[in-house]
Amino acid sequence: MLRTKTCGELRKSDLGFSVTLTGWVDSVRDHSGVLFINLRDRYGLTQIVFLQGVNDEMFNTVRSLHPEDVVQVTGTVQLRPEGIVNKKIPTGEIEVNAEKITVLNRTEIVPFQPAAPELPAEETRLRYRYLDLRRPAMQKTLMLRHRISKVLRDYFDEHGFIEIETPMLGKSTPEGARDYLVPSRVAQGQFYALPQSPQLYKQILMIAGYDRYFQIARCFRDEDLRADRQPEFTQVDLEMSFVDSEDIIEMISGLMERLMKEVLGRELKLPIPRISYDEAMERFGHDAPDLRFGMELIDLTDLAKEFEFRVFRNVADSGGRVRAINAKGVAAKYSRKDIDGLNNWVIEQFGAKGIAWLKADAQGTLTGPIAKNFTDSQLQQIAERLHVEADDFLLFSADTFGTTCKVLNGLRRRLAAELKLIEPNEMNFCWVVQFPMFDWDAEEQRWIATHHPFTAPLESDLPYLTNTKPETTEPTTTEPAAKPEILTPEKIRAQAYDLVLNGFEVGGGTIRIHDSRIQSKVFDLLGLSMETAKEQFGFLLNALQFGAPPHGGIALGLDRLVMLFGGLDNIRDCIAFPKTTKAADLMTGAPSPVAVKQLDELAIQIKPDNVKTVTE
Ligand code: AMO
Ligand code: AMP
Repeated sequence: MLRTKTCGELRKSDLGFSVTLTGWVDSVRDHSGVLFINLRDRYGLTQIVFLQGVNDEMFNTVRSLHPEDVVQVTGTVQLRPEGIVNKKIPTGEIEVNAEKITVLNRTEIVPFQPAAPELPAEETRLRYRYLDLRRPAMQKTLMLRHRISKVLRDYFDEHGFIEIETPMLGKSTPEGARDYLVPSRVAQGQFYALPQSPQLYKQILMIAGYDRYFQIARCFRDEDLRADRQPEFTQVDLEMSFVDSEDIIEMISGLMERLMKEVLGRELKLPIPRISYDEAMERFGHDAPDLRFGMELIDLTDLAKEFEFRVFRNVADSGGRVRAINAKGVAAKYSRKDIDGLNNWVIEQFGAKGIAWLKADAQGTLTGPIAKNFTDSQLQQIAERLHVEADDFLLFSADTFGTTCKVLNGLRRRLAAELKLIEPNEMNFCWVVQFPMFDWDAEEQRWIATHHPFTAPLESDLPYLTNTKPETTEPTTTEPAAKPEILTPEKIRAQAYDLVLNGFEVGGGTIRIHDSRIQSKVFDLLGLSMETAKEQFGFLLNALQFGAPPHGGIALGLDRLVMLFGGLDNIRDCIAFPKTTKAADLMTGAPSPVAVKQLDELAIQIKPDNVKTVTE
């Protein structure tokens, strides 16, 4: 090694020792007659002192240094003078009195200094990612990521899991998002797909008897990106045989307890609370509810049916919902202009028609432009339903159930952030269970699988799978049998569970169908003909016929876990080389055109009119 110690290592106990350090020049300071360098590596910072008159050549070399030059310094560890001790860094009590410096490499002028307190634009950070990754904050996050991976590997190993890699070049199957395709040169005109998840392979591993599998798996989804999504991301993927939902929930809860303890040094009290999908949508308007603050959604549809106010009444009468949130004691904080801003935001973001609002005055009386539409007793009813006290701010959404969920969840989260209702260090976990199995896609006029088509329905809902009457036993008395309820597919609940942390979905999984007949029924309901299903998932359907054990699993989003364990708000900061929201890598310039020869080999021709360059 070119060094004997790292820049984060020296303490008072090293006084008097001769050491050699290497690293990057974080800063150079000239205090007339004394030069100081802060030398940085990924372990920390050490102050180096150069006294004038000791060695002129060395002094001139130091004077010529720029931030980010790479140097090697030999010197003696000494105490910093009183008053210059830096309590903020672990090496702050000592400094190294230099005897020798070697410049290992000089830098060009850097576009930004990793040590600067102001961050440059994200585009610059991504373009010069190697400089950005020198920042201690980024290094801390990548070390946290390593630590999480290490702890979870140990945990799974201790619980009898084996890590198995599954292919990157697979078959394109219609799961959730759009596939990234890879053309085949050998079979021109045919394509592999990069995996959206190892879902099918891990089920096949269960059929193959591998019982407890896990993998830190790279997944690819060509979908619209957001702050918590990347086109290429990492899942902690696992699958177990001979289990039910409880076993998976318990295994992952145990993992969270372990991660909290070993990574953050904090206790997580088990069991993690559970909430059903229906309750989450009623109380929070979202299937990944943020439980760190209140401001729950309250329904007023029954009252609205009696109101004259047509905005509410019409919606209530036509099967929609009127719901509201109560932001306690903040009426004075929101001006008319602020509220107009909120109104425009919900219209643009969620396709709402608007929001209605009321404020309580110091006596708790409700006021605002829509107040005139209600009688005093109606205002009283609203106040009681929403538990109104002085200075409360009420926001109402009248729309379809889905839109009121989006609007009020959006407002609830936005107001909580604006009003700083969230305790910054809180780690709030919950399990969301009993998801609906199917969603109606109004655009395509067909049922789609809420999770994926391999998800098992709850045993109790199995009879409704074919959308027929549930089987009833013959009445044993003379009383007429109760009319059996005919359930529609939207009522069928899945054996599905999502892990939510601080309002983000960090994981999702299901118990799978292990019976090929039930699997065929599900495909049927999803409008996949047996022929198409065989073409696309034939290998799975075949495998299911050869002794498939009951099995289930889950996948956690590793990038999101790191983001939340690190208290960050963007997954790009948790990935060494992330892509922009346009799925571009600004450092390497991917995606990029390729040579005509390469295209010829693949028998691919580009339509010139469609060529686009991604610039951000
Ligand atoms: P799902 O699609 O819910 O399940 O994905 C599991 C978890 O992966 C994370 N995630 C993402 N993270 C970053 N960027 C993305 N684009 C992205 N998409 C998903 C989320 C999510 O909870 N095969 C099933 C799992 C199973 O059933 O076992 C699956 O992939 O944190
Ligand atoms: P109007 O009588 O149309 O002026 O609407 C009265 C108030 O109700 C305005 O503040 C609108 O923004 C609001 N509003 C309109 N449509 C809705 C809706 N669907 N839900 C909640 N508020 C609405």
